[in-house]
Amino acid sequence: MKSFKQIALIGCSALLSLGLTSCFQSDPNSPGYEYMPDMYYSPAYKPGEPNPNYENGITNQVPVEGTVAHTDEALDKINFAPFPYEDTPEGREAAIAELKSPLERNSFHLDEGKRLYDVYCIACHGKEGKGDGSVVKILLEKDNYGLQPPAYNSDQLKGISEGQIYYAMQYGKGNMGSYASQTNAVERWQIVQYVQTLQQLGAEEAEETDAETTEVASSDSTVAN
Ligand code: HEC
Repeated sequence: MKSFKQIALIGCSALLSLGLTSCFQSDPNSPGYEYMPDMYYSPAYKPGEPNPNYENGITNQVPVEGTVAHTDEALDKINFAPFPYEDTPEGREAAIAELKSPLERNSFHLDEGKRLYDVYCIACHGKEGKGDGSVVKILLEKDNYGLQPPAYNSDQLKGISEGQIYYAMQYGKGNMGSYASQTNAVERWQIVQYVQTLQQLGAEEAEETDAETTEVASSDSTVAN
């Protein structure tokens, strides 16, 4: 009968040797024991491989007749075009001056722009682009970390070009990060269309008030005449 001490000693040395073997494995990149080899070695056929499951023996099947392509060549072109402006002050100046939207202005793009704005931008810029999003509100209650963006219809932003809006999403601006990895070019241009409507908020009212004042003034003058 072995004493408790002996059993404990055997146990400890067994554990130690297990530990050491795992430390001295020859290939440091080896994933070790493969628990479910099917996960590593997928039985899927490669596109060029012969395939007995199909009558024609080919893995890469052509789409059935009448299949409608779900990509739009014109939009694909926009998404895959290189962005020629660099992330430098000069690149920014050039984009602000000459970068133009390749998208037609229509309600489809505008609606998509609003949907995407509500996903990516609303948290900081707010529902109407006034810089009062939920994240900003929380931060302002605690401390202003310089995270409050100016309103799109403020004097600072109401006149900025579509190229400048796009460029801000492409590379970020100050405390705002880039949205180039979350959105594709078409989506960014759609957001631009929506942001432009927010730049105009209040401008129509101001114009209307101006028009009313002019009307009143002219009717006054009619009376006076
Ligand atoms: C985490 C908060 C945050 C989010 C989310 C955010 N922004 Fe901003 N944005 C800012 C801040 C802060 C500024 C002011 C940066 C500065 O001028 O230093 C700013 C500035 C801007 C400007 C002005 C750029 C310029 O050249 O002055 C535009 C346009 C803009 N954002 C658009 C967007 C759009 C579109 C989205 C969504 C895709 C977005 N932002 C998402 C925080 C955010």
